[in-house]
Amino acid sequence: MIDLHCHILPGLDDGSDSMDTSCRMAAIAAACGIRTIAATPHRGIDPALEAGGAARVRADVRALQQELDRWEIPVRLLPGSELLLRAGQPLPGPDSLLTLNGSRYLLVEFYFDEHPAVMERKLQEVEAAGLVPVIAHPERYFCVQRNPSLADLWAEKGRVLQVNKGSLLGSLGEGAYLTSALLLRRELVSVIASDAHHFRRRTPELRGLLEALEERFPAVDADLLLRKNPERILRDLPIH
Ligand SMILES: [Fe+2]
Repeated sequence: MIDLHCHILPGLDDGSDSMDTSCRMAAIAAACGIRTIAATPHRGIDPALEAGGAARVRADVRALQQELDRWEIPVRLLPGSELLLRAGQPLPGPDSLLTLNGSRYLLVEFYFDEHPAVMERKLQEVEAAGLVPVIAHPERYFCVQRNPSLADLWAEKGRVLQVNKGSLLGSLGEGAYLTSALLLRRELVSVIASDAHHFRRRTPELRGLLEALEERFPAVDADLLLRKNPERILRDLPIH
């Protein structure tokens, strides 16, 4: 499997706090069958943590990869980011943008209570830059929980919807739980990812998710959402 959304790089955001934590997260991922992780630190939130820009993230990916190789943890790391889109903040220039593995796919997020008109404007900005937005956890945004047809509209416009493991398992609140199930049943979801932040809570472990999918959503093609589509994104190909 491929984890397309993971806060595994140490010291760049509210995810991993040390090299040790990052290695433990990777070991958990490897043990459940994840072979590739896109490292997606938050961007657009805390300038202090984001100093060093894209070059710093790429260097940190290399440093952590060396550590994983040293411990023989069979996970391949690729660079990415999760960019917060908000009113009044222009998109970073092409040199500081961290798309998923350098593809045209950009993982983006919003404030949970963001206004849908602002979301639409920002998504159009991303598209005007020649990029395809991968919308992180649409099920967590209040406007989608209130009005799920917003997600239909996004999918129709070719935006990629990435649902969180934790939402489907109920650990991110009732609204996210119900909405993630709805989006999945409506076949609006192209990717499921861990959005892991640690090795104890919000982990990269996907076994529980696979069991839940099999039990509650037997019609869902888990391989498509957890391997094929993420792989196509990382290779900059169109997805299904
Ligand atoms: Fe995230």
